[in-house]
Amino acid sequence: MPMQKFPDPKTLRQQLAQDPHRPLFHFLPPHNWMNDPNGLFFWKGRYHLFYQYNPREAVWGTICWGHASSLDMVHWVDHPPALVPEKGTGDENGCWSGCIVEHKGVPTAVYSGFVEPERTPIMLAHAEDDHLDAWKKSSMNPVIAGAPGGVRQTDFRDPYVWRESDRWKMLVGAGMTNGDSAVFSYDSPDLVNWTYRGPFFRDGGISSVRMWECPNLFPLGERYVLLVSLFPDLQGVYYFIGDYDGRVFSPTEEGYFERGSLFYAPQARLFPDGRVILFGWILEDRSEQAVQRAGWAGVQSLPRQLAINAQGCLVSRPIDELKNLRGEHHLFSGIRLGSGGNFRLPLAGQCLEVEAVLAAEGGRMGMDILVSPDGSEYTRIFVDFEEHRGVLDTTHSSLSKQVNRRMLITPIRDDSSNEVRLHVWIDRSVIEVWFNDDAVITGRVYPTRVDARGLGVFSSDASGEVKRMHIWEMGQIWPADHGKA
Ligand code: FRU
Repeated sequence: MPMQKFPDPKTLRQQLAQDPHRPLFHFLPPHNWMNDPNGLFFWKGRYHLFYQYNPREAVWGTICWGHASSLDMVHWVDHPPALVPEKGTGDENGCWSGCIVEHKGVPTAVYSGFVEPERTPIMLAHAEDDHLDAWKKSSMNPVIAGAPGGVRQTDFRDPYVWRESDRWKMLVGAGMTNGDSAVFSYDSPDLVNWTYRGPFFRDGGISSVRMWECPNLFPLGERYVLLVSLFPDLQGVYYFIGDYDGRVFSPTEEGYFERGSLFYAPQARLFPDGRVILFGWILEDRSEQAVQRAGWAGVQSLPRQLAINAQGCLVSRPIDELKNLRGEHHLFSGIRLGSGGNFRLPLAGQCLEVEAVLAAEGGRMGMDILVSPDGSEYTRIFVDFEEHRGVLDTTHSSLSKQVNRRMLITPIRDDSSNEVRLHVWIDRSVIEVWFNDDAVITGRVYPTRVDARGLGVFSSDASGEVKRMHIWEMGQIWPADHGKA
């Protein structure tokens, strides 16, 4: 599809602006389908986000690289799609995931091409302007034609490239014929000629996993983190923390970055200010029919800054710049609840940030959000103080038969205090919740009622106290003329 044929993104956004499920402060494409974030890159004062985009339909297919940029990683403007499939080349059926690096002053995309039935050569494209709007595919493509021995040809993709002393290094996600998942390592002086260096790290620990998609490797403090997405069936995002001497990666810790099936294929980058920031794909959780009717699918997570906590686990928190979206502020404190008690807050909203401290000796305590006046629809976020678990319960979020209902659960570190901090981001159909700043759950909800906006707090099986609850009404990340319902 030639670039000039793409419809004006502002018009597309205006057309969908009345949809009550479209988030206002999470990034999403002008319309139709989006999956992985790609090519996170800081160039000439702007942050660039590319993404797996099907501009034709709200389902996956014929993937291009969509493109947006931002001064603060919070407010975005659309650019035309950057990489589009080209007939007769290694990306004729899709430009799949990859990254961008600067080589000799030229931003260069390194990505997986896709040729049906399933060949995924590694491809290069060079930016031709500083807005990163015009791209030229390399005449040297493909720079890697296919998988090395021992790897299934269909399970080899998603290059992640970084500079190390005088060479480029690359990891590629893979699934091996012996059943292991792996990341393979290459290096190159020029991004064109790659030398295969063998498996960087492999593991067969989770037998249901066929391959690791979208590997990321980055330094965090003194350590290195390898992040992989577990394929198939969106089995979550997993990390290894270890030492890396330029050749061998030796992990000492590992765990799920996020367990649920609605957050997947994140990309993390080390930015010039020293922060490692990640975006991840948040999936829809409703029927394909409902998605087609809506005309859009897929959202990016809030930008999350990564860190290793005192327990040696990989954790994230939304970047500080998101405070720029805070509008009117409300504070509640000292709300005491008896066992079985609940309290309706004198406030309602669908785009809110909530920071709360909950205290209880046991039982469960939390909040209800997106509550309809008759109570027929509500979403529950709570802490199980007995089991040390955080829960996002969407079983009553919607009366629609077209949506999934789930109990999304994360373990919460037992720090032997009776308090848990909640950080909740409600953005219409998108919910992200942090428990104690380290465990996170991502979920989707689709209330049918436009008045499902109420908020409350509750306690069950023990008494509790909402010590503090800050609530901010949130602004949107698009220019005002892009339409706001
Ligand atoms: C992850 C993924 C990648 C691939 C891309 C295709 O969601 O399957 O492995 O490059 O999406 O859209």
